[in-house]
Amino acid sequence: KEAKLWGGRFEEGVTDAVERFTESISFDKALYKQDIMGSRAHASMLAKQGLMSFSDRDSILEGLNQIEERIERGEFEWRTDREDVHMNIEAALTDLIGEPAKKLHTARSRNDQVSTDFRLWCRDAIDTIVANIKQLQIAMVTLAKNNKGVIVPGYTHLQRAQPVLLQHHILAYVEQLDRDAGRLLDCRVRLNFSPLGACALAGTGLPIDRFMTSDALGFTAPMRNSMDAVSDRDFVLELLSANAITAMHLSRLGEEWVLWASEEFGFITPSDSVSTGSSIMPQKKNPDPMELVRGKSARVFGDLVTLLVLCKGLPLAYNRDLQEDKEPVFDSVKTIIGMLQVSSEFAYNITFNIERIKKALPAGHLDATTLADYLVHKASCGIPFRTSHDIVGRAVALCVYKKCELQELSLDELRTINGVFEDDVYEYLGVENSIKKFSSYGSTGSECVAEQLDFWMTRLNIN
Ligand code: ARG
Repeated sequence: KEAKLWGGRFEEGVTDAVERFTESISFDKALYKQDIMGSRAHASMLAKQGLMSFSDRDSILEGLNQIEERIERGEFEWRTDREDVHMNIEAALTDLIGEPAKKLHTARSRNDQVSTDFRLWCRDAIDTIVANIKQLQIAMVTLAKNNKGVIVPGYTHLQRAQPVLLQHHILAYVEQLDRDAGRLLDCRVRLNFSPLGACALAGTGLPIDRFMTSDALGFTAPMRNSMDAVSDRDFVLELLSANAITAMHLSRLGEEWVLWASEEFGFITPSDSVSTGSSIMPQKKNPDPMELVRGKSARVFGDLVTLLVLCKGLPLAYNRDLQEDKEPVFDSVKTIIGMLQVSSEFAYNITFNIERIKKALPAGHLDATTLADYLVHKASCGIPFRTSHDIVGRAVALCVYKKCELQELSLDELRTINGVFEDDVYEYLGVENSIKKFSSYGSTGSECVAEQLDFWMTRLNIN
C-alpha cells in the first residue's frame, strides 16, 4: 500500500472501512478543473515570491497540463486510497514529475484549497444557472408574444376573480425568474473572495502573496480572515437558498400547467414530445415533465436543509463534516438546471386552447369588480366603494338567482337595485369590456401589457 501524503506520524494505515467511509474522490473529482486552476495560480505565486524556482514552477505547470488532459480523455486513474481530488492530483503530479511536485503544497492546506476550488465551482455553476434562467425567460416571453389578446380567468383562492390577459399571466413568471437570477448574481458577488493562502486556519509565516493568487483566479480580493476563509460555507448556503427559491417558483409553474392541462381546465394541450403515457390506461397522456419539475423541487429544498443542519453545530475553523457540503450542491445545481431546461421545453411545446378558454370566460362574474369601479367612476353621484361593492354584490346575487351573467341583466333590473345605473354600464360588462378598463401601471390593461412585453423583448434580445 502507498504511504499517505499525511502519513509521516502514522505507524499503520487506516482500515478499509475507514478508507471507504472517509473518501470523497468518488464525488469531489468534479472539482478537478478548479483544483488545477488553483494549483497553477499557487505555483506561479510561490515562484514569484522566491519560495520555488522558476524551473520547478514550469515542471509543475507542464505536469498539471498533462494531468488535466489525461482527466479529460478519461485516462486518469482516480484512487480511493488517495482520498480526495486534491491528494489525487498532487500524488499523480509527483508520480509524473517527481521532486518539484513536492513543493506545490508550500503555504497551502487542503482546507483553503477545497474552499477555493468550491468557490470557483459555485461561481461557474451560478453562471450556468443564470444562463438557463434566461433561456426559460425567453421561452416564456415567446409564449406570451404568440398569444396576443387572449383573455383568461384570473384566480385568487383558485376561484374565478377577474379577467386578465394571458400575456400578463405568463409575464408574471418572467418577473419571478428575474429575481431568481438576481439572487444568484448577488450571491456571486459575495462568494467571489479568495480563501487561498489561509492555509490550515491561521495563515503562514512564509512570504506568500495572496493578492496575486486572488487576481489570477478572478477573485475580487483575498478573504480578510484566514479562520473565516477555511470555515465559511455561507456562500454555499446562499447558492442553495437561491436555488430553493427558484425551484419553488418552477414548482408553482409546474402545478399550474398540470392543472391547465387537465380535462377540467383544458386551457393547454402539451405536445406529445413533452408528454408520457400510462402502462395500463391506453388513452392517457400525462404532463409528467412538469409534475417532476414540481416533484424535484423537494430535493432542492432538501439540499438546502442538509447544508444548514451540517453547518449549525460546527465550531471554528475547518471540520471534516464540511466534506459533506459537495454532494447536496452538485445535486441542487444539476436538478435546478434540469428543471429550468424542461420548463423551457414545455413552454415551447404547449398550445393554448383558445376556444375552450373563451367558453370558460362567462362563468364566475369576472366583470363584477369592473362594475363596482363603474359606480365609483360615476363622479356626479360620488358613491363610496364600499357601497358600490354592496350594490354589485346584490346584482351578482340576482344573476345567481336568474342563472345569468351581469351583462344579461336589463337596465331596469339593474335600476331596481340602484338608480345610478345608466346605459353606459354595458360598456363595462363582459370580459372584453372589463379588460379594456384596466389602465393602472402594472395592470392587465392591453397597453400596460404591451409595454411589459416590449420591455422583456428588448431586455432579452428577442425579435
Ligand atoms: N476532502 C476534504 C473536504 O472536502 C478536503 C479537506 C480535508 N482536510 C483535512 N484536513 N482532512 O473538505
